Amino acid sequence: MIVDQLASPRFPRSSRYHPDWVVAGVSGGANPLWLTEWLTEEMELRPGMRVLDLGCGRGASSVFLHQEFDVQVWAVDLWFGVDERLERIRDAGAQDAVFPLHADARALPFAAGFFDAVVSIDSFVYYGTDDLYLNYLARFVRPGGPIGIAGAGLVGEFDGSVPDHLTTWWEPSMACLHSADWWRRHWERSAVVQVDLADTMPDGWRHWLGWQHAVAPDNSVEIDALTADQGRHLGYVRAIARRHTDRIPDEPITSIPVDYSRRPLYRAAEPSG
Ligand SMILES: C[S@@+](CC[C@H](N)C(=O)[O-])C[C@H]1O[C@@H](n2cnc3c(N)ncnc32)[C@H](O)[C@@H]1O
Repeated sequence: MIVDQLASPRFPRSSRYHPDWVVAGVSGGANPLWLTEWLTEEMELRPGMRVLDLGCGRGASSVFLHQEFDVQVWAVDLWFGVDERLERIRDAGAQDAVFPLHADARALPFAAGFFDAVVSIDSFVYYGTDDLYLNYLARFVRPGGPIGIAGAGLVGEFDGSVPDHLTTWWEPSMACLHSADWWRRHWERSAVVQVDLADTMPDGWRHWLGWQHAVAPDNSVEIDALTADQGRHLGYVRAIARRHTDRIPDEPITSIPVDYSRRPLYRAAEPSG
């Protein structure tokens, strides 16, 4: 059953992976292989590149990136443990090229310019909506290097409140979902990258729904929301940008050293008695 649902002519690379392997590594509400395949159709990844897979969950996308493009991958995630991820990486024979790390995307332990590319699958919304985040992240990729994200999002921004047919499913944290145009504007404002592409997956909602039917058929709230929506609002979005070669991202401010100088508190002495 799952075999049929996860094999899709739209995603020939992903369809080679065993459905049991994909399902055993589920870490979110989307198929990480489908989203990684879609994103990398427009990102140039060459053998030997150093790639940051930011918010990689349990690491399926990291293994996929290595297997498909022969890149080295630093598989960084916050919520899922590194030990289980390492077992998956070892079983795939990728332990010499895929390195699991536990880290917060807002406090990355890497040298400036270390990566040739950054990929983030269904994760960037959790931190990347911060106006200052792209500037922070861009430090870690070499000048000219690509940063690509793909994940659940909106086909267009809502005017006003959440549409009625989505309210049962909608949670406050879904305020982080945005459209491709929103991401383009958001990234262009930083002026630290050149945005090459921001778009919506054709029929993305159908793939989203298909994934839910395959891995979480009892999740009727999400399935009903997607079915009622018919792709009017919900879908998959991706954005790809390149760090400008002639602009240096601002250094993060970690501390501002100051010396105390004693001064009188008031202009004149307070009258006594
Ligand atoms: C919906 S899951 C997607 C996981 C995986 N990329 C996938 O597509 O299956 C979101 C992931 O974002 C990661 N994440 C959220 N906030 C993060 C942060 N501040 N730093 C690093 N990872 C974060 C979580 O740990 C989680 O694994």
